[in-house]
Amino acid sequence: MSTISFSVEKTQNSTISQVDFDNLAFGKILSDHMFIMEYENGEWGVGKIVPFAPIPMHPALSALHYGQSIFEGLKAYRTESNEINIFRPQMNAKRFAESAERMCMPPVPEDIFLEAIRKLVEVDQDWVPSNEGYSLYIRPFLFATDEGVGIKPSETYKFMVITAPVGVYYSEPVRVKIEEYYTRAAIGGVGRAKAAGNYGASLYPAKQCQLQGFHQLIWTDAAEHKYIEESGTMNIVFQIGGKLISPSEDADTILRGVTKKTVFDIARSWGVEIEERKITVEEIVTAARNGTLEDAFGAGTAATIAQILIIGFRDERLELPPLEGRTLSNKIKNYLSDIKTGKAEDIHSWNFKV
Ligand code: COI
Repeated sequence: MSTISFSVEKTQNSTISQVDFDNLAFGKILSDHMFIMEYENGEWGVGKIVPFAPIPMHPALSALHYGQSIFEGLKAYRTESNEINIFRPQMNAKRFAESAERMCMPPVPEDIFLEAIRKLVEVDQDWVPSNEGYSLYIRPFLFATDEGVGIKPSETYKFMVITAPVGVYYSEPVRVKIEEYYTRAAIGGVGRAKAAGNYGASLYPAKQCQLQGFHQLIWTDAAEHKYIEESGTMNIVFQIGGKLISPSEDADTILRGVTKKTVFDIARSWGVEIEERKITVEEIVTAARNGTLEDAFGAGTAATIAQILIIGFRDERLELPPLEGRTLSNKIKNYLSDIKTGKAEDIHSWNFKV
């Protein structure tokens, strides 16, 4: 039991009765309450949970002008016995603090981060969907609130958490295109941080590939476009010769994904060989052409495991094996869902009880 406590002001105007819990798109509907905590004079104030509402904003708010803004994404699941679990939030707390440091922002202490999301989910527990594949997406975010157009690290910040009941992220297997011009992140940049600007910068390149019939890009390194880095907003994993292979996270261009780590933790415990190393575009394209690329998928919180059906490379559209035959990723996907919803024993203690 945490010793941290927050004030809770309950809404008088719940919108839950208007929600169709059988048809939830991703992130369009937000739950009744939100968490807010402010930083000023070098310290965090006391957090509070209040009814979900717009927040007043100064036109010279520094986050808007200079982008000191980071976020996280995690999910809460309803189990078969009607308990609620948040999946591995400690990892998000740690990554949030690392992102804050890179963006010159004050980290939110891990115990406060955890209790803020736990308490908010408890207050809005009726918003956690029970349909298979559905969950409550939790969005913590931190942004600079100094008012003025001078550029310097802000001295004031807001840490907020909002939640959204969500359905599946991709309704079909994805088509991705290897990008050889635009870049998500360069060495020395902010690619490892979950900085808002990384996502803003990805929209234009993603839109170009969407005009060509793809869902997302496979990002390559900024210097040579020779090595594979991530896919869209997710980490990317390939299967060749029974092994799972993913770009090494040593470079500071790659986000340290909770889902990818979890996939590897599971696969390793089943005796599957894992390689985290540099992966050339050539290796993947050659494997796809000669039929040795057994599987490829994106791993991220929003989509969990998004299996890739087509990889576009220049003028080629390389088709990967049918999904039914992807035994390993299908098995991992199901097992992961079973752990989160209490159908499989949580032997790794990944579920954080609300
Ligand atoms: C994730 O899948 O973890 C994401 O960051 C997706 C989010 C931008 C919607």
